[in-house]
Amino acid sequence: MLSVVARPLGLGASCCRGSRRAIATVISGNKASKLVRERLKEEVEKMKVQFCGFRPSLVVLQVGDRDDSNLYISTKLKAAAEEINRVLCCFGDVLQIGIDAKHVRLPNSATQDEVLHSIMSVNENQTVHGLIVQLPLDTVNHINSELVTNAVSPEKDVDGLSCINAGKLSRGDLNDCFIPCTPNGCLELIRQTGVSVAGKHAVVIGRSKIVGAPMHDLLLWNHATVTTCHSKTPDLPEQVGRADILVVGAGRAEMVRGGWVKEGAVVIDCGINYVPDETRASGKRVVGDVHYASANQRAGFITPVPGGVGPMTVAMLMENTVQSAQRFLLRSQSHG
Ligand code: GUN
Repeated sequence: MLSVVARPLGLGASCCRGSRRAIATVISGNKASKLVRERLKEEVEKMKVQFCGFRPSLVVLQVGDRDDSNLYISTKLKAAAEEINRVLCCFGDVLQIGIDAKHVRLPNSATQDEVLHSIMSVNENQTVHGLIVQLPLDTVNHINSELVTNAVSPEKDVDGLSCINAGKLSRGDLNDCFIPCTPNGCLELIRQTGVSVAGKHAVVIGRSKIVGAPMHDLLLWNHATVTTCHSKTPDLPEQVGRADILVVGAGRAEMVRGGWVKEGAVVIDCGINYVPDETRASGKRVVGDVHYASANQRAGFITPVPGGVGPMTVAMLMENTVQSAQRFLLRSQSHG
């Protein structure tokens, strides 16, 4: 196991639980994702040497111009890109892996047919190994996003959002599908704690196609007993109180209160919410779906926001892209 749990300086250890209030160990997504990206960079370099300059390639398709999507996409592209002029291997804090990443942007006036046409042309392009359609679509037309995500070839669906990949995950075919990046990153962060998933009671809050539903499946097939809660769950605090492992993807700022959390639980917070903060120059700050200041008084381990799940989501997209390229090479060798 890689050691990436970080305890903020000056805070007490969890062995003090009982005699005084303990503080949870912080699970650092920044550190964990850096280790993943370093490993991927080495794998990509090996492929390059072994297969005459071969590079994994990713296309990010965007419809429209949402500010939040622009930010997420630029983070993904920076994490992927080739070293700039071979001078630096780091761009700011982002280690670049050597994946050839392209951003294809369609205007918000694009029709459903035009979006589908773009997807088909990437599907047919043998030099591209991964394709994601950034969601939500920002469009003035009616576009069926389900149709769009299912148009991505399952072999290139590194977001794991197509019915084929989702179906395989729900049946436990974990080695024959792409696992959506956020749940995959959450599982990796849980593993970093050393707490085993098998036999534990896991509670997932949220049932979205990107986070909650695949997280349920992933925990289930890693042998947890899983309860998924949603907006109609009547007794959310009681359900949360039973969780040895709690994953929250509810999309509501600081909804889970510390008092609900089981003593010693692993708490993984997928939320990214902006709340007003007059002390900041920007007038806002980012918080998760968990009320961190109270939850870290009861949890054994907790992810921070920012710096927890977010960087792991990006790292897992890179992991899926490299895996897709490796599968492509294997298929070409067996056909060649
Ligand atoms: N929008 C927010 N998160 C995601 C993600 O993981 N994948 C895609 N395609 N769009 C997103």
